[in-house]
This record gives sequence, structure tokens and C-alpha cells, in this order.
Amino acid sequence: MTKVITYGTFDLLHFGHENLLRAAKALGDYLIVGVTSEDFDRSRGKLLVQQSLAERMAAVKATGLVDEVIVEEYEGQKIDDIKRYGVDIFTVGSDWKGRFDYLSPFCKVVYLSRTEGVSSTELRSKGRNMSLGVAGVSASLHKFMEESRYISGCEITHLFADGDALDMQIPETVSVTDTYENLLSSVDAVYVNTSPERRYAYSKIALEKGIHVLSETPVALTAKEAEELYALAKEKGVIFCEGLKTAYSLAFQRMVLLLRGGAIGSVKSVEATCTSLAPAHSPWLFDTTRGGGALAEWGSYVIYAALSLLGNKPESIRYITNSKEDGVDLYTKLLMLYPKAEATLKAGIGVKSEGELIISGTKGYIYVPAPWWKMDYFEVRKEDIRLNRKYFYPFEGEGIRYELAEFIKGIQSGSRAGLLAEEDSIAIAGVMEDFLSGKGHITKI
Ligand code: CTP
Repeated sequence: MTKVITYGTFDLLHFGHENLLRAAKALGDYLIVGVTSEDFDRSRGKLLVQQSLAERMAAVKATGLVDEVIVEEYEGQKIDDIKRYGVDIFTVGSDWKGRFDYLSPFCKVVYLSRTEGVSSTELRSKGRNMSLGVAGVSASLHKFMEESRYISGCEITHLFADGDALDMQIPETVSVTDTYENLLSSVDAVYVNTSPERRYAYSKIALEKGIHVLSETPVALTAKEAEELYALAKEKGVIFCEGLKTAYSLAFQRMVLLLRGGAIGSVKSVEATCTSLAPAHSPWLFDTTRGGGALAEWGSYVIYAALSLLGNKPESIRYITNSKEDGVDLYTKLLMLYPKAEATLKAGIGVKSEGELIISGTKGYIYVPAPWWKMDYFEVRKEDIRLNRKYFYPFEGEGIRYELAEFIKGIQSGSRAGLLAEEDSIAIAGVMEDFLSGKGHITKI
């Protein structure tokens, strides 16, 4: 009996897939198909797969061409499978020509001709090619534009500079509008990248018009305003999403799950630091009237770490802040107290420190080196160093592509499942309010 194996994502199964499977089956007597898991696809840069693994496996099975469906979960699995199943022929479409020649010492490798004119990517973006507007200029705008290229199904078409200088190269495909209203009249979704104190108003105007919003973090400077935006999005049936890239890092999500499973016992302390001294930064960075300062710039990241690990209802928060004469905080330290744990958080734009994350527990600790907010790796460390474990996950480029992918998926599916939780987002805005209004327990030095 000749055994054949092939692999693929098989999202929104189409006739190209069917042709491939039929030709693969014809190469032998028994056909095994490896369908890629969500995590494996993510690590390969396939970020917008629409169907779940179970749905894709069921669709492959339903073709009636396949004898066995398995899951492909990791790099290097193909060799293991070929040996385990006693495979004679490995096959795949000609778009992969040459890429799997390394398997030829283990079995015969055959590249089948690919069906022209159809692909999952094309089906996913059919009728859904969304136009995205950007409101506001910041130092990370060029990164956002660069990263958006990795996301099919959405294109940045308009930009509104919100009164700030546009001292960067704008692609020819992007029209610069003179008002926010003009931008909104031309797009399906908007990235609110304005200064912190304007975000609430800008998001509100867009949501009222039924436009999906991805807002920079923090989304508002009071909890009530943040709450209002989520309620408005629900009422209008659109997606409102906080763009805090750590929330979309696979490593961070896996770390949280591992901690909930007791990997280091009971978590007692979270220490997180985010600082930068970048000279060419957001125009409002040192402007209190525009919501600038260290906490507004970096606070969300460290607060999000504490909320994700210790819960979004700390008993109290103390702030120690070092400000300039005009009141802009250059460095702010937060001590968040929980019933049986605490978080020490540091945000700085005028003071530089080591941007690491340390989570201490009763059975060990987790260490994430700088810049932990763009983490692709973490380490679980124990008293007995032989039990230490390192965990690696993909996090390409600036990581913005992951938040954008989840935003687009949220719009396409109408579900907030993959997005930063509304409660955490409101809690972050609440901490901003506590500090910026001066109502919190603040010590100025
Ligand atoms: N395939 C094919 N003809 C097509 C599309 C895919 O023969 N028109 C083959 C691929 O070469 C691969 C298998 O089907 O061997 C599974 O491919 P997959 O990557 O899941 O499908 P695509 O449609 O190429 O997906 P995407 O657009 O997401 O890359």
C-alpha cells in the first residue's frame, strides 16, 4: 500500500484544495492530510485564518478524498509524521516548489500543479476589503503603516494629521484629509492615534457613525468615558478595540494561562517597567494639555500586566511621581495592592530603566527580559535550576500586525473574543483618571 501525506491550512475549502487532494490521493492508496493548528499558522505568519481547526478538519474530511486527518502543530513535525505513519510520498502544491526537498531522504517528494485563480486569501478578502483611516500622528505611525501590509483584507486609505506635522513619507495610496469628518466619510474603520486627551472624542464621533474603532492605549482618560465608548459600540453593532500590543502577544497570553495553572504557585508580586527616552516621539509626549506624560505613554502596558495577573480590582493604588515644573510626569511608580499580592509598576519618559517583567510566586518566578511588552519568550525559574523552562513564541516585527489582525477578525466575526477585555480597558482608563485628576494617593517628588 502506498501512503501519501500532504499538509495545509485549508481555510474556506475551495476547488483548488479539492483538486490538490484528488491529485494527492491518485498518487497512492491511502491519503493522510495534516491540517495546521491555529498556533502553528500564527507562527507561520498566517494571521487571518477564518475557520477554526475543527471546522477546517471537518471540511477536509467531508471531501471524501481523505483517509485520515491529523493536526500539524509544530515545526519539524513532517519528518516525525513520515516516520510514524510509514509514508511513501510527501506532496504539496507547486507554490511550495523546492521548499520540501529536505524531506527526500525520508520519502519521495512530489509537487503537484496549483489550481490557478483561487486561494483562501482571496476568498477571505472578497467583499471585505476594508478601508482603514488613521487619525493622528505619532512616532510609531510609520511602524503601523509598515505592519498593516501583513494584513490582507484591510488597507490604509486615508490619514488625518490632527494639526500635527507630517514629517514622514506617506505612501501614494494614502490620501491626506483636512478634517476628521472627511476621513470618516471615506473609511470603514479608523485607527485613533491622536493625543490621549482627544481619543475619547474621536472614538465617540466614529462609533456614532457606525465606524469600527481601533484606539491607541489608553482609550480614554476616565473610566466613565471608556465605559461609554464600549456601550456605544455595542449599541451601534461595531467593534471598539484597544490597541495595546502586549494583549495580542501569544507569549503573554500563554504565560497568563500557565500562571493560572499554578506554574509558579500562587502569584505574590508583579514587577513591570516600561520606559523610553526616544527623542523623536509623539508630538504631545511632554504636553500636559494634550494628556502627555510617562503614565499616559507607558502606564497602560505595566497596568495591563498587573490586571491580567492579579485581577482588575486592586484594593488601592499609590503613586510616586517625579514631574517637571509644568507638571508633566517624567517617571511614575505605582504600587497596586491586592488582598494577598502587590504590583510594583514603573513608567518613564524622562528616566530610563531596565524594561523587564518579573512575576514572583510561592513555587518559583517568571522572568521576561526587556522589552517584555513585545515578548516572544519567557522563562519559568525554580529554586532547583534543573526545573527551569524557557518558552518561545513568534512575535514578528513590532507586533502591531497581531493587534490589527485581531481587530479585523473581530469586525469580520462580530465577536470581541480575541480582543483586550472591556473590563481591563475600563480599569486602565480608571487608573489614568485617578492619577491625572490628582484624586489618587499621589506623592510628588
Ligand atoms: N492549493 C492549490 N491550489 C490553490 C490553492 C491551494 O493546489 N489554488 C494547495 C496548496 O499548494 C497546498 C494546499 O492546497 O498544497 C493547501 O493550501 P493552503 O495554503 O491551505 O491554501 P491557499 O488557498 O493557498 O491559502 P492562503 O491563500 O491562505 O495561502
